[in-house]
Amino acid sequence: MTTRAVIMGVGHYLPERVVPNVEFEKTLDTTNEWIVSRSGIERRHFAAEGQTTSDLATRAARAALESAGMTGADLDAIILATSTADFTFPSAATMVQNNLGMKTGFAFDVQAVCAGFVYALANANALIVSGQARRVLVIGAETFSRIMDWTDRSTCVLFGDGAGAVVLEAQEGDGSSDDRGILSTDLHSDGRYRDLLYVDGGVSTQTTGRLRMEGREVFRHAVEKLAETAHAALDKVGLTAQDVDWVVPHQANIRIIQSTAKKLGVPMSHVVVTVQDHGNTSAASIPLALSVGVQNGQIKRGDLIVTEAIGGGLAWGSVVLRW
Ligand code: UT7
Repeated sequence: MTTRAVIMGVGHYLPERVVPNVEFEKTLDTTNEWIVSRSGIERRHFAAEGQTTSDLATRAARAALESAGMTGADLDAIILATSTADFTFPSAATMVQNNLGMKTGFAFDVQAVCAGFVYALANANALIVSGQARRVLVIGAETFSRIMDWTDRSTCVLFGDGAGAVVLEAQEGDGSSDDRGILSTDLHSDGRYRDLLYVDGGVSTQTTGRLRMEGREVFRHAVEKLAETAHAALDKVGLTAQDVDWVVPHQANIRIIQSTAKKLGVPMSHVVVTVQDHGNTSAASIPLALSVGVQNGQIKRGDLIVTEAIGGGLAWGSVVLRW
């Protein structure tokens, strides 16, 4: 018998305010056509004034718990992937823990920028297979609108706010790749690429800072590294691209998603795409796409799923799981 971390529920939350590309035409030298053709993004959601990452995360968490038929009291741990926590400390995860009325267990944030949800899933899996937790809520939540430079057309049109969550539970499998749950994980980072994507502020500098990105360079690394990590995660369990029902990629740019799918050898009809509606929501993008994929009937129980993501660090990775 092998302990597997099986997804029991999924949910998401998007702030009410939807901002279509044309809104940027009013203040920036940009067009809807440029944004759609270079990124695939048509609209994104922005959090309301005063609405924080832990607010978004709590709503997504409640939706995921409801779909799992659980409450906060059923959980042993919460892992929240975010780079835009409400405060320097405490963690946004402990704020969600309190909002859910969960008085036991433990909660912490994971900061791996756009790869954050993949890192958080890998951590949750490690806690579950090592017997340290039975039920773990994994959330990706971001308010990237708070760290945009609204005068920089090459970045501010790309990002959005949102949150998604899954509930994982320990279940016994037979150790084969037919088991439900997380089958393999593959994580990487390389700090030499720090300057390609970063925020130029932080606690030590007593500023919040704004996002800076060498888009073309990040694009180049993304296409190369995402296919590599997805192949590596599949290899670990003796599976190939032909076995994949759905690729659920980080939603940064439709051209990255298409190039990676091509390199992987998976047709676009087997890729969940939400970038047109959400923009790049960093650590929230994969759980948002999982939740939307389930909601619209694409992802079904037993499907083999590959998730992959890359972001600031650079940090990247992938997870193979059976839904
Ligand atoms: O989630 C973390 C990972 N992040 C990513 O994966 C993002 C990766 N990068 C990208 O998605 C793409 O590189 C971008 C969407 C950011 C840019 O697309 P690109 O095809 O790489 O364009 P580019 O940066 O090479 O820029 C082409 C031109 C430039 O003008 P010149 O130098 O050719 O005259 C830019 O100044 O497009 C210009 N440009 C714009 N024009 C109109 C840049 N932003 C805009 C804009 N509207 N918003």
